[in-house]
Amino acid sequence: MASKTFQLSRREMLMSSATTAAVSTIVSETADAAPPMKAVPTYKAAMTVNGKPHRLTLDPRTTLLDALREHLHLTGTKKGCDHGQCGACTVIVNGERINACLSLAVQHEGDVVTTIEGLGTPERMHPMQAAFVKHDGYQCGYCTPGQICSAVSVLEEIKRGIPSHAQADLMAAPQPTGVELRERMSGNICRCGAYSNIADAMAEISGVRT
Ligand code: FES
Ligand code: FES
Repeated sequence: MASKTFQLSRREMLMSSATTAAVSTIVSETADAAPPMKAVPTYKAAMTVNGKPHRLTLDPRTTLLDALREHLHLTGTKKGCDHGQCGACTVIVNGERINACLSLAVQHEGDVVTTIEGLGTPERMHPMQAAFVKHDGYQCGYCTPGQICSAVSVLEEIKRGIPSHAQADLMAAPQPTGVELRERMSGNICRCGAYSNIADAMAEISGVRT
């Protein structure tokens, strides 16, 4: 026998059904009345990537990293943390290394970008790429494009006399010592721990023993 608490008369049941139907209609009408989603406006950004001019039409929220990987299909540049913490996305812009995940593509109107694909090819490697191969400066290779772009830029920074925190004398010209190279590469994380071999590769190119 059904519990008395849950017994409904036929009249009560019909009233309940009618109320439910009315509420559904109101919800449905409210949803129909919602304004249509506006399309995100797009922006144009022209930049030179690996020597080739490109004109991109982008959602302004697109990072340089996503523009390179998803729009230009240059997947050599890697996405590690996507938060500026690992250096996997390092590319060279106007001669300086940056984390491509921290930069919006539309900020690079007119810029000159070099990715790992622009440094060298398997047949014609950049000297730093060849040194990484020679010294086993990688294991899985995921961080390697960023490491190599960073390493190339680090030696340029030292040549241009840009100081670092590792220098005892900030007024003296920086030298590519082992300490200096390691300090400047500290933003590039290698999960495989290939650091010693990366330092050896850089030392060979800079001509200094670590
Ligand atoms: Fe850009 Fe990690 S993916 S710093
Ligand atoms: Fe694997 Fe660096 S070689 S993360």
